[in-house]
Amino acid sequence: MADAIIKADKLSESQYEYMQLIAEIMEIRKRGDKPLAFIRTYGCQQNVADSEKIKGMLMKSGFGFTDEPDNADFILFNTCAVREHAEDRVFGNVGALKNLKRKHPQILIALCGCMMEQEHVANRIYNSFPFVGLVFGTHSLHHFPELMYNSLVNGKRVFERGNDDKKIYEGFPVRRDGDFKGWLPIMYGCNNFCTYCIVPYVRGRERSRDRDVIVSEARNMIQQGYKDITLLGQNVNSYGKTLENPVSFAQLISEIDAIDGDYWLRFMTSHPKDCSKELIDAIADSKHISKHLHLPFQSGSDRVLKAMNRHYDRKRYLDIINYAKEKIDGLSLTSDIIVGFPGETYEDFKQTLSLIREVEFTSLFTFIFSPRKGTPAEKMEDPISAEEKSKWFRELLDVQEEIAAKRCSSMVGQTEKVLIESVKEKTGELNGRTSGNIIVELDGDQSLIGTFQDVKITRARNWILKGKIENGGI
Ligand code: SAH
Ligand code: SF4
Ligand code: F3S
Repeated sequence: MADAIIKADKLSESQYEYMQLIAEIMEIRKRGDKPLAFIRTYGCQQNVADSEKIKGMLMKSGFGFTDEPDNADFILFNTCAVREHAEDRVFGNVGALKNLKRKHPQILIALCGCMMEQEHVANRIYNSFPFVGLVFGTHSLHHFPELMYNSLVNGKRVFERGNDDKKIYEGFPVRRDGDFKGWLPIMYGCNNFCTYCIVPYVRGRERSRDRDVIVSEARNMIQQGYKDITLLGQNVNSYGKTLENPVSFAQLISEIDAIDGDYWLRFMTSHPKDCSKELIDAIADSKHISKHLHLPFQSGSDRVLKAMNRHYDRKRYLDIINYAKEKIDGLSLTSDIIVGFPGETYEDFKQTLSLIREVEFTSLFTFIFSPRKGTPAEKMEDPISAEEKSKWFRELLDVQEEIAAKRCSSMVGQTEKVLIESVKEKTGELNGRTSGNIIVELDGDQSLIGTFQDVKITRARNWILKGKIENGGI
């Protein structure tokens, strides 16, 4: 069946009016010279990108920003539901705000994001954290100003979840966190329903943003001096299916790549079931797309992959990886892995180890399976103990450390283009990243932050490289 066509709506004028009204209220309610917001973001880049929209709307509502919750008039946690650990951190940190609210009763404490789309979580917040005044889920972003206004004027608690109207909204004001590294969402939601994953339940069905809107946003970012732009989606390979004029992800990224400028283009996340040779060819032929592929395989065992509902097997995964390695010189590969999926045996786990040895990833994001309420995997038999799973997990880390060290040492002596990103406070050393997303530490002046430099790799320490700027940083 064809995917339903989804057209975009604009953030309504009334939301801008609410921003104006909030500004007027905050002139009276603010504690300092200017109303200040403290925003903490948990989870993945989708949440980071959502927080940038929220910050945009707050800025239009007269807010400045602070890193100190104690100074804030508005505190917001944008939450993640992907693993239990992520949720526990949020509950712990929200609990700690109780005293702050007691000290400054006029502050508004709010929670939003993926966790808030779950009914049991919203109920727990409602019952156990009475000082939280505003709660809204991922589907309520397009009327956040209205919700915030209502909670400010009525003094009543405002809770909203389950408001998925299956639309896409454009025209948000966005306040980006970085001025040379930026996120560009190209689609929202996910249709894949991997059996362990909560994302489709809290983010709704997949929907793609219009191609022209994305290309023009990318062009603006490049003109503004962004050097490292990451296109975002839960499964970027299925981009474009819900558009009136369907277009593939490879076509989209090639169109952006054709924009002139000195920048890198990245994307996250690719799903192996939809990762096409067309995309690999587009990377190989591109000028700006970084030589990095993040392709989560989750498990090396076909049996486990089937139980996870991933729709590919080990062979299909390795075929696409081998094709990519052949086509793209110096390709850096990274992946996500789940250890201890229900029913996984040590034999299955050994298949994961053998796959990482075969592929030689630059780095891995590894997770122990965490049951998520309402997902099919939550109800699957899970006979392996937590201790046993931790043992496997450590074994995986040891193997990967060896591989990463080997991969990094093989880069010693090479010259790499590096984007200088930050300065380490303790040592004064600069930190940068290669096109393959590997961290490089080097000496140099802070004024180089945000510039590309040719760096000779002089040493490798585990998965971190040491380097020297070749042209003296001029
Ligand atoms: N859309 C992306 C990943 C989103 S979640 C993809 O399909 O690759 C990021 C990672 O968290 C996943 O790749 C997976 O490795 C991990 N993850 C998701 N749900 C999990 C769970 N219930 N327990 C442990 N890890 C999980
Ligand atoms: Fe979750 Fe699977 Fe969708 Fe990724 S593709 S967000 S792991 S359901
Ligand atoms: Fe977490 Fe939501 Fe991202 S659950 S991983 S913040 S999509």
